[in-house]
Amino acid sequence: MSQVILISSGKGGTGKTIFAANVGVILSQRGFNVLLIDMDLGLRNLDLVLGLESKIVYDVRDVCSGLCSISQATISHKNFPNLHFMAASPVREDGEITPLHMQVLCRKLKSQFDYIIIDGPAGINDGLIVAAAGADKGVIVTIHDYSAIRDADKVDRFLEELGIRKRGLVINKAVYNLMGNGIVPGIRQINGLIRAPILGVIQQDDNIQISSNYGLPIAYKKGTYIYENLNSITDRIILQ
Ligand SMILES: Nc1ncnc2c1ncn2[C@@H]1O[C@H](COP(=O)(O)OP(=O)(O)OP(=O)(O)O)[C@@H](O)[C@H]1O
Ligand SMILES: [Mg+2]
Repeated sequence: MSQVILISSGKGGTGKTIFAANVGVILSQRGFNVLLIDMDLGLRNLDLVLGLESKIVYDVRDVCSGLCSISQATISHKNFPNLHFMAASPVREDGEITPLHMQVLCRKLKSQFDYIIIDGPAGINDGLIVAAAGADKGVIVTIHDYSAIRDADKVDRFLEELGIRKRGLVINKAVYNLMGNGIVPGIRQINGLIRAPILGVIQQDDNIQISSNYGLPIAYKKGTYIYENLNSITDRIILQ
């Protein structure tokens, strides 16, 4: 059965967009038909991380307003045959896409794709309510600062209020020696601070940043420790 997975965060810049892109690449490499949707309206970036910025004609707003069809706004990735992408609108106008639009869109997309991965906005705001409207699962990406974890917990509770029962936490940009030395909270402490289960920990690694700046998510290369880690986290998300 198809799943709609929302990637969210309390604070900005935690790595949602890069994480969404990599999970999309991994699932598509497994043979699933995957659609990545950028729902960071007005602040889109997923196109850059996927190297698809020059291919955008229509976006999700055009689909919701009826200007174009779903297939017209769907871009197929030439490097990953089963991976498809729908862009966010470059500017944001309040109320242009409603939660109802999103619910209807997700229902239609579920008949066409195995996994729909939504790159959401940071924080708790109307944009999150819209991005979450059709989601079955929520992943909250955080870094291991106390303030980021507190905000992640708030997002977790907010997603629960919105009716998303399956939620999990990904700790990104982890620096293990800081965690080990107790300078930043470790796994046990984070577990005590947030109710959502921890789905995985991703190390701070320059290669992740470099590959996304080249428009090629790092998971394109199988067999690396980063790939294996992202692959396991992807399993935990879809089997949750
Ligand atoms: N594990 C990591 N190691 C090193 N750099 C990372 C890692 N994850 C993400 N980054 C870098 O962090 C920055 C922010 O990443 P990204 O744009 O994915 O965050 P975001 O949560 O989507 O941000 P926003 O809230 O603005 O949408 C980028 O420069 C990215 O390359
Ligand atoms: Mg982003």
